[in-house]
Amino acid sequence: MCITVSRQQSALHQSAIRFMSIACARAGGINMAQGVCDLDLPREVEEGARQAILDGFNIYTAAEGVSSLRKAIAKKYSDHYGISIDPGEGVMVSAGATGAFYATMLALIDPGDEVILFEPFYGYHRSTLESLGCRVRYVDISLKDYHIDFSGLEKAITPKTKAVVINNPLNPSGKVFSRDELDELGRLLDGSNIALISDEIYEHFVFGGKKHIPVLDVPSLKKRSIIVSGFSKIFSITGWRLGYALLPARIKEAAVKYNDLIYVCPPAPLQAGAVKGLRELGMDYYQQVAAEHEEKRDLFCGVLEKIGLTPVVPDGAYYAMADISPIPGKNDLEKVMNLLEKTGVASVPGSAFYRSNDLTGMARFCFAKKMPELEEACRRLQQIQA
Ligand SMILES: Cc1ncc(COP(=O)(O)O)c(C=O)c1O
Repeated sequence: MCITVSRQQSALHQSAIRFMSIACARAGGINMAQGVCDLDLPREVEEGARQAILDGFNIYTAAEGVSSLRKAIAKKYSDHYGISIDPGEGVMVSAGATGAFYATMLALIDPGDEVILFEPFYGYHRSTLESLGCRVRYVDISLKDYHIDFSGLEKAITPKTKAVVINNPLNPSGKVFSRDELDELGRLLDGSNIALISDEIYEHFVFGGKKHIPVLDVPSLKKRSIIVSGFSKIFSITGWRLGYALLPARIKEAAVKYNDLIYVCPPAPLQAGAVKGLRELGMDYYQQVAAEHEEKRDLFCGVLEKIGLTPVVPDGAYYAMADISPIPGKNDLEKVMNLLEKTGVASVPGSAFYRSNDLTGMARFCFAKKMPELEEACRRLQQIQA
């Protein structure tokens, strides 16, 4: 007898990020491959979860998340962006932004539907879409000047297009969509039934005086928009698996069925941690996280520039794409492995964010590290210049 794996699983590949994290652990290196925010979690968030466990809040919750968290999320959108959201009808809490995206796409997509994704893309978006059997069409966002190929977008839209997925700020390049660009997107989609899903997990990591504009704040996009976001990055709790989607009531009803099927509910006591964090952390907390990461961006990109690995200095998120063509190797993977071997610093091959495995000559570095570790990574990288 021989048990066989499914045909559908062959569409899934180990992510390059996981691959490089494993290689980094083996080499005992500094992991700038994985997008983990290394700050300590806020005391409020920790206390909220700890107290909930002590209070015995350890059983299943509603599949859509507890109402106190849905209300706190709605209040956040009102306080930060002046957007009004109904916490009952319009918020689904899930197992991270990843879970929220997956459940939402299950609710929206049938096999054979077409979905438009911008390239470079976040690999989980592509894998989720492919795993659901939809055809993905790609539109370019230039790495060098962040230009969106709107005429390419217009051409990519067909009668089968069900949704467009954006990531704003964009992992890996750090592009932050302007209001003009979002308006243009609204104009292009006007008159269609195409949904816009915007992954805004890096909404609070925006630099240089730029401003994050949620798609629900754009009148021409509001009706068709779904926001996916979460707490992994802003509260430094990537392992807690807490995120959410803001979505129209009809879609929410369907998405919650999948949220229930796959996760049953988000982790009960950890939801209480997010509630306390949202209620008690003021604007200054969010501003300080952004300022700290801007300082890290400037330090790290300065070093990349100095050693001849020219970076694309990001406007948002916490990654820097850098030109690694001076590093020996036949392709991106060989180059980043070489860099890991020489310096003990792990990054992700740029090709992980593109369809083609051809040489992009770029690597992505996550600079959301604690300052001493970031400084050590900078010191090590400068060795390649010596
Ligand atoms: C664009 C994007 N979306 C979602 C996630 C994952 O978020 P979560 O931990 O909330 O699932 C990441 C993590 O790197 C990301 O870069």
